[in-house]
Amino acid sequence: MQFKSIALALALAAQDAYAVSSSGLMARQFAQAAMMRFQCSQLVYDRIDPLVEPGHTPSAHLHQIVGGNSFNASMKAVEYDPATKATCTTCDYSEDFSNYWTANLYFKARNGSFKRVPQMVNLGLQGREGVTVYYIPPYDGKTKVTAFPKGFRMLVGDAGLRTKTGQQKQLCHRCFSNKKQDPFGGAPCTGDDTFDLPKKQCGGGIRTTITFPTCWDGKNVDSPNHKEHVAYPSSGSFESTGPCPSTHPVRLPQLMYEVMWDTTPFNDKSIWPADGSQPFVYSMGDGTGYGQHGDYLFGWKDGVLQKALDARCSGNACKTLKTQAASVSTKCAVQQAVREDVGSEGWLKELPGGNTVTYS
Ligand SMILES: *[C@@H]1O[C@H](CO)[C@@H](O)[C@H](O)[C@H]1NC(C)=O
Ligand SMILES: *[C@@H]1O[C@H](CO)[C@@H](O)[C@H](O)[C@H]1NC(C)=O
Repeated sequence: MQFKSIALALALAAQDAYAVSSSGLMARQFAQAAMMRFQCSQLVYDRIDPLVEPGHTPSAHLHQIVGGNSFNASMKAVEYDPATKATCTTCDYSEDFSNYWTANLYFKARNGSFKRVPQMVNLGLQGREGVTVYYIPPYDGKTKVTAFPKGFRMLVGDAGLRTKTGQQKQLCHRCFSNKKQDPFGGAPCTGDDTFDLPKKQCGGGIRTTITFPTCWDGKNVDSPNHKEHVAYPSSGSFESTGPCPSTHPVRLPQLMYEVMWDTTPFNDKSIWPADGSQPFVYSMGDGTGYGQHGDYLFGWKDGVLQKALDARCSGNACKTLKTQAASVSTKCAVQQAVREDVGSEGWLKELPGGNTVTYS
């Protein structure tokens, strides 16, 4: 099965990562690797952001949003509980009403017009374009892992960044040479992965990985910048079981998003910039890629995620959890709050919101 080979590739990749930072001892424990990996298809493309700009319609830039259909410009923590408000979700796990969102990628033509870059459903999964979501408990199989509590939300990345300096860990791009993702490469943000957008044409499209911190202060479901209540482990990187800082002692599952941008329709040198630079920009008007970011708003049904973690669920069909077919999940959708053309079909004269493209 395809998923097995992906899980294996990831486990091996993680093993590589550990081999650099840790001893061979860890390697044997990968046999117990558990990694929930599932599809959450498009819910809506919209210019709202209940985390960073609650109540603002429109928000500063366009997002692609997946997950539960209670997504709304204002979703007050705890009070507005997706698990009770939503009636459907675009995710394979039908009790996951969380919302996951990221910026969108655009192709900027020589004449200055824009087209939204379509997305691919990841290997082994089904649905329509969207986000591959991972929840990964600590690899050692022993470290206690605590599911996110009701009302929990967090943000990784900074939409305003145009340089590597100041970027959080674990926000990367991978340039695949073919759509089989072969060779697969190592763990996210290792090998040839880049923090900025790849500078060459990618025969298999570009993968964005957004990996969230795994240590929590144990008290706050949010913080003013949506970041300070969580932290990365004090050592190690991807899937690290490195110690949590004493200020953030509670171990969370590692949440990760993968977005597969199908840049291949634009792989034509005659439409790329004449100066040899790369033509893709994020919806904030980010021509570098350093501004990529991911937002998370927890909305699993009560107790379900903890149950999944305890059962060390893997893939997108864990017996402990209720699942739904892509034919069902893709029927879930919401109307745009900000009605506008997002450039999926024709060309746009400007990015949604009129954001100008900046490179520094
Ligand atoms: C968002 O939710 C609130 C509270 O349920 C509701 O009053 C409001 O109409 C919703 N907004 C949109 C745009 O659906
Ligand atoms: C701009 O460039 C694109 C890509 O080359 C082309 O398809 C589109 O028709 C052009 N738009 C205008 C207004 O010339």
